[in-house]
Amino acid sequence: KSVQSGKVTWQSPSNIALVKYWGKKKNQIPANPSVSFTLKNCKTITTMEFQKKEIKGEDFDFELFFEGKKKDDFKPKITRFFERIEKYTPFLKDYELVIQTENTFPHSSGIASSASGMSALALCVMSLEKELNPEITEDYFLKKASFLARLGSGSACRSIEGELIEWGEHKTTAGSSDLFGIKYPNKVLEVFKSYQDTILLVDKGQKQVSSTLGHNLMHGHSFAEARFEQAHANLEKLQAVFETGNLPEFIKIVESEALTLHAMMMSSEPYFILMKPNTLEIINRIWGFRESTGVPVCFTLDAGANVHVLYPKRHKEEVLEFIKNELVAYCEKGQYICDSIGKGAEKL
Ligand code: PMV
Repeated sequence: KSVQSGKVTWQSPSNIALVKYWGKKKNQIPANPSVSFTLKNCKTITTMEFQKKEIKGEDFDFELFFEGKKKDDFKPKITRFFERIEKYTPFLKDYELVIQTENTFPHSSGIASSASGMSALALCVMSLEKELNPEITEDYFLKKASFLARLGSGSACRSIEGELIEWGEHKTTAGSSDLFGIKYPNKVLEVFKSYQDTILLVDKGQKQVSSTLGHNLMHGHSFAEARFEQAHANLEKLQAVFETGNLPEFIKIVESEALTLHAMMMSSEPYFILMKPNTLEIINRIWGFRESTGVPVCFTLDAGANVHVLYPKRHKEEVLEFIKNELVAYCEKGQYICDSIGKGAEKL
């Protein structure tokens, strides 16, 4: 079908990994499988306008606006993304694109916007493909969106759908793939589908270590093989947890995954400490609160100092009270974001 011009808008959420992806092979293939909660409130909203060119050009033609302002410094990253996906989306060079994007979370919050940003853009590209080829199925659309998002930023492939997404080949997950994320196919109790994630902004600065660099540090890392095996084992253990609702076991796996991610960085060459003193204060206080109240609250971390506090919805009131009374003091400017598990991206 010939399409002259059009406009499409997608909003796509961030996600938080329970079993972490850390280390990759060529072409954004993960060194180990991972599983994540899709978030609801932390998202990127991206509009893509497309206008057919008179003659197909040699280059990708696009303009980029972030929060209404022209953002040329993001262009190399997007160009690299388009180059990677060109083979699968050969129509891109036929169009002039105007991409406008904004996040619902503060710009410099230390929250990575690559998952939400790359998934939103991949979905816009898929909407153009759908205009050109209206008979593609919903299933193909979502799978390919996740596949393209992965080529932008690995974890972005887990942001297309909700509530739990697994990415990477894993023997006890039917249909799992290194190429795209899938909706977790095994039994998941309701308690996990309404989990809360309160994100404590400990350090809003720029990331010290880009994830690209971090993943690369796993090549030749002394503990790499053991770590990859551990991720497989933890996924298998979580399968039982999702079925039975064994929260103490959930907590053990999730916190261990977070600390292992940081342990990998501390034992890389070169080594990095991405936690801040306040990260440790918060972790200790979460442990103290859990011990004294029995409330099943735990933490996880990304490749940075911020802390994600995870807990079942039924404990929301008391955990938020605890966060306000004891943890906010350790956040930069007292800032935190209340989020919960969501159902994935939406076309607006
Ligand atoms: O998607 P990337 O390449 O930015 O890697 C993200 C890696 C972690 O956030 C640290 C873990 C994960 O699985 O999301």
